[in-house]
Amino acid sequence: MTTALVNIAYLIASALFIIGLKYLSHPRTAVRGNLLGAAGMLIAIVVTLLNRRIVSFEIIIAGFILGAAIGTILARKIQMTGMPQLVALFNGFGGGASVLVAGSALIEAAGKAHDMPCQLTIAGVASGLIGAVTFWGSLIAFGKLQGVVPEKPLRYSGEQIFKSILLLASLAMGAWIVIEPSTVHFYWILVAVASALGIFLVIPIGGADMPVVITLLNSYSGLAACATGFVLGNNVLVIAGSLVGASGIILTKIMCKAMNRSLTNVLFGGLGEIPESAADADDVYGGKVKATSAEEVAMLLETARRVVIVPGYGMAAAQAQHAVRDLFNLLESKKIEVEFAIHPVAGRMPGHMNVLLAEADIPYDNLREMDEVNPTFEQTDIAIVLGANDVVNPSARTNPKSPIAGMPILNVDKARTVVVIKRSLSPGFAGIPNPLFAADNTLMLFGDGKKMIQDLITALKEG
Ligand code: TAP
Repeated sequence: MTTALVNIAYLIASALFIIGLKYLSHPRTAVRGNLLGAAGMLIAIVVTLLNRRIVSFEIIIAGFILGAAIGTILARKIQMTGMPQLVALFNGFGGGASVLVAGSALIEAAGKAHDMPCQLTIAGVASGLIGAVTFWGSLIAFGKLQGVVPEKPLRYSGEQIFKSILLLASLAMGAWIVIEPSTVHFYWILVAVASALGIFLVIPIGGADMPVVITLLNSYSGLAACATGFVLGNNVLVIAGSLVGASGIILTKIMCKAMNRSLTNVLFGGLGEIPESAADADDVYGGKVKATSAEEVAMLLETARRVVIVPGYGMAAAQAQHAVRDLFNLLESKKIEVEFAIHPVAGRMPGHMNVLLAEADIPYDNLREMDEVNPTFEQTDIAIVLGANDVVNPSARTNPKSPIAGMPILNVDKARTVVVIKRSLSPGFAGIPNPLFAADNTLMLFGDGKKMIQDLITALKEG
């Protein structure tokens, strides 16, 4: 294969990645985007293997079959709630592969030439450092979500100093290899120190914050791949790595903004702690909470013209999305306008609500993002809050001392009536009470999300 042909194939693959990413930004085109990205990756892999003649055709075909089989089984078996763990593993393996490929390329180059170009050693150590942090950080993230590693934030004194020492030690070792390439065999010591850094960076972070960490590690895995691309002189790896690195960091920023956290706060592992001085629940709720029944809510719905459903983590926990679709169909058949309000960090992973609602075949056209739906709550007759808590907590707007102060929220409290479906007055992820539950226009429908929606449907049909 000529270099020109290879580069044309890489260009086509890169274009497919970019168009695929564009399509991934909307649920309607996401499947097509995924297929385009996968097609780009297939072209990149086949061309690289043919061009470099690294392994025989038999091994290539066997690898494809094995990889496709593992991928298909994982994609079919994995529960929606297990998706963050799976992504963590993918990121980790990406980082691990970068460490191994860059390391062997560096050591091979050192064996052939005494004078190694700076670009090679800088890219090699960057790949080793970032890749090892990604691999071990992702394994810890996986372990926390899977319950293999304690989910609680594991804090210890001198934590920041210890992590800084590990970072400085790996940077110093990397600089040494760049300045004195004959010490390239220390690459594996650098990898060992960076591995410890990866473990100790993630272990102090609480399990519930792992989605943010995983997105950040996703970005790191892209950077490691990009650096490996420079080591191998492989353009498509540089491009694909940069795309992953950039999209990962953009997603991390979106999540941080929606959770009202700074990126520094994420980077230095101050996440996942329950606030010490959360407001007293009795003060917020004492004698003000009004419980309701499915029948009463059904009566209210009969006279409503516009209803907004706000799903949250509880809808995922209750697996209520299919029941919600049935309720949606029933309300639409009664000529009631129904929309879904989606907060960017509702649930526990990016796009959590979109994916669940799409799984239940709820039309994308009825999904509204926060900025779009917020101005409409005042014209909404009933807002049904299904297992959402923090993302509808008005204290983010009204109480500057609240741990979620400044976090953008869905202004459901502006609707004429708010029906909150959850099992109790327990707090959500942020661990704080929610004054919405005690508001004059709020009715609490206590119970499991799926069961309550089913009861509501029965009451509506009987009514
Ligand atoms: P949360 O504030 O976590 O509240 C979820 C509520 O669901 C709980 O209060 C719980 O109340 C209820 N619930 C649990 N199981 C239920 C069931 N079977 N049926 C009915 N209700 C149930 O959820 P949210 O409003 O979606 O907010 C998400 C939070 O997670 C935010 O604080 C966000 O910052 C954080 N976070 C999000 C992400 C991403 S990317 N989405 C990543 C990390 C952290 P009961 O126990 O009383 O039922």
